[in-house]
Amino acid sequence: MLELKNVSKAFGDNQVLQDASLTVRDGETTVILGPSGSGKSTLLRFMNLLEFPETGSLSINDDAVTFGGRLTDAQIRSVRKHSAMVFQGYNLFPNQTVVDNVSLPPVLNGKLSKAQARERAQEVLDRVGMGDRLDEYPDNLSGGQQQRVAIARALAVDPDYLLFDEPTSALDPELAADVTRVMVDLASEGRSLVVVTHNIEFARQVAKRVIFLADGSVGFDGTPEEFFASDSERIQRYLSTYGTA
Ligand SMILES: Nc1ncnc2c1ncn2[C@@H]1O[C@H](COP(=O)(O)OP(=O)(O)OP(=O)(O)O)[C@@H](O)[C@H]1O
Ligand SMILES: [Mg+2]
Repeated sequence: MLELKNVSKAFGDNQVLQDASLTVRDGETTVILGPSGSGKSTLLRFMNLLEFPETGSLSINDDAVTFGGRLTDAQIRSVRKHSAMVFQGYNLFPNQTVVDNVSLPPVLNGKLSKAQARERAQEVLDRVGMGDRLDEYPDNLSGGQQQRVAIARALAVDPDYLLFDEPTSALDPELAADVTRVMVDLASEGRSLVVVTHNIEFARQVAKRVIFLADGSVGFDGTPEEFFASDSERIQRYLSTYGTA
């Protein structure tokens, strides 16, 4: 289980999150929705400490940290090992081949030997349909292919939680569909996914939980059925803006 409790964050005068709490359950897909600027990416980045809240706490399986003071490198590492992030912009290393992009992280974090990591890379690249492009450089791949390699890279470290920040929003619909298909497969295998998206249909069809951020806090936390049936004015307004795409 992953739990953020009472986290707050301001950037200058902009109080982005105030006392936000949420729980991500294991083995299911949690989708985080909310208007642009509501703090979805910030909240997701808290989960693997790419960003630090000013207050509150994070517990993630058997590791827990309290924010406000200084965290040790060991604490940060122990939290980070539980999750892997997939970004909107893929963030592959352009000067490394596909297989190096995927096999280096588990070697660098000491999880696998070079030979094991290579084998694992082949396996996860096969899973995302990129197993025949090992020696290609990212620039020679389409956006959708690069994103599937990025998903393989996240899978290679065998994280407890896969964190996605708008993984398909930079892609043409056809390429986005390939990426979404991989995510649906992972969800149906019982992987724990946390997905920030503006893709309402993904939330409707794949999510087991929907978390809705608005006005600095968690405005809804429940099932998609409850979310889409909600008579909350704020949710209705959100759905009428983002739900027709
Ligand atoms: N590093 C930063 N420095 C200053 N302001 C920031 C920083 N990161 C985020 N913000 C601000 O915090 C607010 C929330 O940003 P965040 O990226 O979390 O929103 P979001 O819900 O992911 O939006 P979008 O749907 O557009 O991606 C925004 O007003 C943003 O401008
Ligand atoms: Mg964002």
